[in-house]
Amino acid sequence: MGKGKTYLVSGSSRGVGLALVKELLSKPDNRTVFAAARSPQKSEELQKLAEKHKDRLHIVTFDVTSGDSAKVRKLLCLDLTIQILGQHNVTG
Ligand SMILES: NC(=O)c1ccc[n+]([C@@H]2O[C@H](COP(=O)([O-])OP(=O)(O)OC[C@H]3O[C@@H](n4cnc5c(N)ncnc54)[C@H](OP(=O)(O)O)[C@@H]3O)[C@@H](O)[C@H]2O)c1
Repeated sequence: MGKGKTYLVSGSSRGVGLALVKELLSKPDNRTVFAAARSPQKSEELQKLAEKHKDRLHIVTFDVTSGDSAKVRKLLCLDLTIQILGQHNVTG
């Protein structure tokens, strides 16, 4: 985490991603955090954080499996993208 950096955290509406967004915001040197999820409006906690950190936290709605995700990454001037999701396949 560096001075004046801009981050995009996907999977940020709950769990590990939300915890990471809080951690990034706790460092005043981190300039901007974009918090992404498919339905960020459903996360009351994320909405409250965005209200509290109006100047530094911006909520972005997208599905990382869609083409929109790549477009958003190109549009934003990011220093680091952190993707907090995964898929667990159980077979057999
Ligand atoms: N929690 C743990 O203790 C733990 C430990 C080890 C590993 N992990 C791994 O860490 C990852 C996250 O775990 P978690 O517990 O934080 O999961 P979680 O509570 O289910 O949160 C997942 C987050 O990802 C978002 N999301 C899911 N699919 C998405 C998509 N296609 N595009 C954009 N956003 C999407 C969800 O919001 P929306 O539904 O609104 O999109 C939510 O914000 C998982 O891969 C898990 O296996 C977790």
